[in-house]
Amino acid sequence: MSYSGLIHHYRSFLPINEETPHLTLHEGDTPLIRANRLSEELGIDLYLKVEGLNPTGSFKDRGMVLAIAKAAEADSEAVICASTGNTSASAAAYAARMGMRCIVVIPDGHVALGKLSQAVIYGAEVLAVQGNFDQALEIVREIAEHHPVTLVNSVNPYRIEGQKTGAFEVCDRLGDAPDVLAIPVGNAGNISAYWKGFKEYQEAGHSATLPRMCGFEAEGAAAIVRGERVEQPETVATAIRIGNPASWKMAVDAAEESVGKIGSVSDAEILDAYRDLTRKEGVFAEAASAASLAGVKKLRCSGELAQGARVVCVLTGNGLKDPAAAMEAVPVKPKVLPCEREAVLQAVKEGSEA
Ligand code: F0G
Repeated sequence: MSYSGLIHHYRSFLPINEETPHLTLHEGDTPLIRANRLSEELGIDLYLKVEGLNPTGSFKDRGMVLAIAKAAEADSEAVICASTGNTSASAAAYAARMGMRCIVVIPDGHVALGKLSQAVIYGAEVLAVQGNFDQALEIVREIAEHHPVTLVNSVNPYRIEGQKTGAFEVCDRLGDAPDVLAIPVGNAGNISAYWKGFKEYQEAGHSATLPRMCGFEAEGAAAIVRGERVEQPETVATAIRIGNPASWKMAVDAAEESVGKIGSVSDAEILDAYRDLTRKEGVFAEAASAASLAGVKKLRCSGELAQGARVVCVLTGNGLKDPAAAMEAVPVKPKVLPCEREAVLQAVKEGSEA
């Protein structure tokens, strides 16, 4: 049977009924790719869940398709969200497809151009506030409480419901849950969604085991690890530049119940992992996504991860979202040459000697 979208495929696990519109942009069904070279290097059995291949280039589409469909079912005419970029791109796309108004509130100057351009071209009303994500979220939560507009941040329970299907796909592909699920943590919705998904799939008899849930915050925005909100979060991984995660408690519960952990990784560790993914595996994920691999490398170094463990890293967003970050992450720039055979040949020879 051909795949016709996430809501249809996992309908028995989702809160839908005859009134729910059949909305899809063919989200979900993303590849789980074995990381052959990194597996060998780290002495583990490592897989990459490539969420950047969703229709708008991030995992947000899984939750957004359901959130927007349910908003339409409830006759809502407008949706609103705060975003570090990916949520706004996804909301804008699904709202456009549903014919709804979409308002996105972003931290001015801290959203990658790829994401911002998506929100704009899909026709969202983009409001850039002179503050950070946490402040933007506070504002939209307040507005949605008092005005006829549906909030589609991950505090909307349908977002979590949709995103839990990532865990289903991992189990479907591996035949069981992995030993460890490593995932970046920003607002902490996704780690909570995956944990819910793994538990539900086990209860339904589709997997025998549960993974240890290991979430990783960026060091400069590591509120959960520090145990207090970070007023001025800073990290190169702008997607997870969040100092007061909305699903804080659910994330801590996921880590505790699963005997996993919430850890943190530095910007240098994130950028190392970002380059590893492209250069050793051919997978271009955005910097925030690489926090999952950076965390796995750290766990392996500290002895918290056993030799041979089966590990899945969730790569949450596509590297093309932020080409400027890629250009900054490598010292080698394109060489400009005269348009002559000799000049090109010379450069090729020099390259092989280097
Ligand atoms: N990775 C990427 C690429 C993200 O865009 C986000 C969150 C996360 C990881 C963290 O996921 O918030 O569920 O813990 N981005 C949100 C946004 C905040 O607005 O696009 P989380």
